Amino acid sequence: MALSEKETLAPPRHIAIIMDGNGRWAKQRGLPRTAGHAAGAEAFRRIANHCRALGVKYLTVYAFSTENWKRSQDEISGIMRLLRRYLEEALRDMEKNRVCFRFFGDLSRLSPELQKLCRDAESRSEEYDVQVNFCLNYGGRDEIVQAARRFALDVQAGKHRPEELTEAMLSTYLYSRDVPDPELIIRPSGEMRTSNFLLWQSAYSEYVFMNVLWPDFAPQHLDEAIAQYHRRNRRFGGA
Ligand code: FPP
Repeated sequence: MALSEKETLAPPRHIAIIMDGNGRWAKQRGLPRTAGHAAGAEAFRRIANHCRALGVKYLTVYAFSTENWKRSQDEISGIMRLLRRYLEEALRDMEKNRVCFRFFGDLSRLSPELQKLCRDAESRSEEYDVQVNFCLNYGGRDEIVQAARRFALDVQAGKHRPEELTEAMLSTYLYSRDVPDPELIIRPSGEMRTSNFLLWQSAYSEYVFMNVLWPDFAPQHLDEAIAQYHRRNRRFGGA
């Protein structure tokens, strides 16, 4: 099918992805779940490169949720190992890849080694072509609770009065401060839930649900999701 003019328009500035389906991908192949996450990490690399090639400015991915601690120790360590390996490589190749990093979530529960890698990656993050936001030990509700708590502390310290709080001000207390809301949120694997991802920031996002498991997610799936996004008529509550 030839793409219409609207579909060849610029890509969304900010795309967010729930990288779902790694476990099912592994099960279908008789492999351990960690093999699915390893293939998921490869899919992430491909998609981050494709985002850069398309000119997408922000890519936010759900790498580990506040609920994922319920998984087996083996699976949790496997995901953390993949993240560590990725960040070590990324820190080495940051200039070449033109990618910078931010982390959304409560990092204090991660290993000291991983916390240090996250801090190093953030501190070296100047303006690059693409900003990757990793959601790590992240939950949308938890993010809003932390923001409310920090605003309350500022009120207690006399920096703000409660009636000064607006949507714009609350946004500055979120992990995503300075990052525009995602225009497009993609969930592969056939599940149709938001799973506590970017609850505040997704107020007007377009969702695209796709029937492909994350390790199989290829650049053409991203192109298809962007084409679907361009076919939508975004009204932001207007008529
Ligand atoms: C959800 O699929 C996926 C996760 C909870 C982990 C995502 C982590 C990665 C892709 C690796 C992170 C590393 C990098 C470098 C990005 P699931 O396990 O819930 O799948 P299922 O629903 O099929 O069981």
